[in-house]
Order: sequence, then structure tokens, then C-alpha cells
Amino acid sequence: RTYKVGYFVGSLSSASINRILSKALIRLAPQDLDFTEIPIGNLPLYSPDFDSDYPPEPKALKDAIAASDAILFVTPEYNRSIPGPLKNAIDWASRPYGNNSFDHLPAAVIGASPGKIGTALAQQGLRAVLSFCNARQMTAPEAYITFQPDVFTADGDVSDESTATFLTDYMREFRVHIERVLTVIPRA
Ligand code: FNR
Repeated sequence: RTYKVGYFVGSLSSASINRILSKALIRLAPQDLDFTEIPIGNLPLYSPDFDSDYPPEPKALKDAIAASDAILFVTPEYNRSIPGPLKNAIDWASRPYGNNSFDHLPAAVIGASPGKIGTALAQQGLRAVLSFCNARQMTAPEAYITFQPDVFTADGDVSDESTATFLTDYMREFRVHIERVLTVIPRA
């Protein structure tokens, strides 16, 4: 069967290397994964004051997650942590209390930075958040990508063979993970 994967790019940059990475991942993923980006750039800042009546953008965010079989996070690291816009999106999706969009949802985390640790700290922070939100995370393989411009074209073609193999394997494992989780916990 085909799985619908909603993906978040945790960067609002028009030149985002994580957006390029997301394009590469979609290219290399198994054919039976269907990808839809879930935008985060137009969300207001979350406040509990909205809990009784969500504005249209956060409502659309929650609908998009509900329509997904799994979620992929492709994110930069900001100051050794999760970028604010992405955290804001997660906070919206986790609320109102009792209506947490991530509950039991298969999820995976990946990210790129120019630096050597390749968003490891941001991913660790994001994993802690997703644990609390009760998402079913793929814990292995991990993927900390040091972005080298000569390896990726702007539209996500990967020229380096070992990088392409690594990312292909990562997405294949994600598909296996999704299938495993949904076998035990089917989406409503
Ligand atoms: C960064 N950058 C960065 N890199 C990193 O490896 N660890 C970090 O903690 C940070 N912190 C950080 C904070 C802020 C506010 C900015 C703007 C940048 C650099 C970052 O990895 C680089 O700008 C990437 O290009 C960001 O990813 P996108 O937006 O290109 O996908």
C-alpha cells in the first residue's frame, strides 16, 4: 500500500539547505511513499487563548497531520536547538489539550547543517519534544548531515554515491518503520 508522509521543513529560509535535503529524500524514497509538505511559515505564534477557536492556518496544520500516515521532520539546528518556527508549529499541533495531533503517529527526524555535528543537538531536542507528544519515532538509523554544496543540486539530485546510498537506506528504513507502527496502531 501507499503511505502518505507529511513533511516539515524547519527553516523559513528561501535558500534552505534543509529544503534541498527534503527534495533529495523525496527523490530517493521508496515509490510507495507519497509526500506532502506541511507549511509552517504562515502560522501565528501559539497561545492557549486560541484553544477554544483555532485560526484557519493552525486548523489547516492539524488537518494536514490528520491526513498523513506518518511525519518527517527535516530541520536545521538554531543555537543548538529546534528553530522557533518549527517548535511553534509543534505546539499548535499538540493542542488543544486532549487533541494532540502527534499521538501514536509514526515520525522520523533528519537535518543538515554546514557544521560537523549536522544538527545532532537540534534533533536530540526535537526527539525529546516528540517523545512527550507520544509520536512513534524511528530511533535508528540516525542521520546527521553535514551539508556539502557540491554533493546536492538545488533540486535535490545527489551526486555523491555514498551519501545517496545512506539517504536511500534511511528512507527505506522509515518506510519499514511506518508499516510496523501502523500494523499495531492503525490510523483512525
Ligand atoms: C545557525 N546555524 C547553526 N548551525 C549549527 O550547526 N548549529 C547551530 O546551533 C546553529 N545555530 C544557528 C542559529 C541561527 C539563528 C542561524 C540563522 C543559523 C547555521 C545553520 O546551520 C545554517 O544557517 C543552515 O544553512 C540553516 O539551515 P537552512 O535554513 O539553510 O535549512
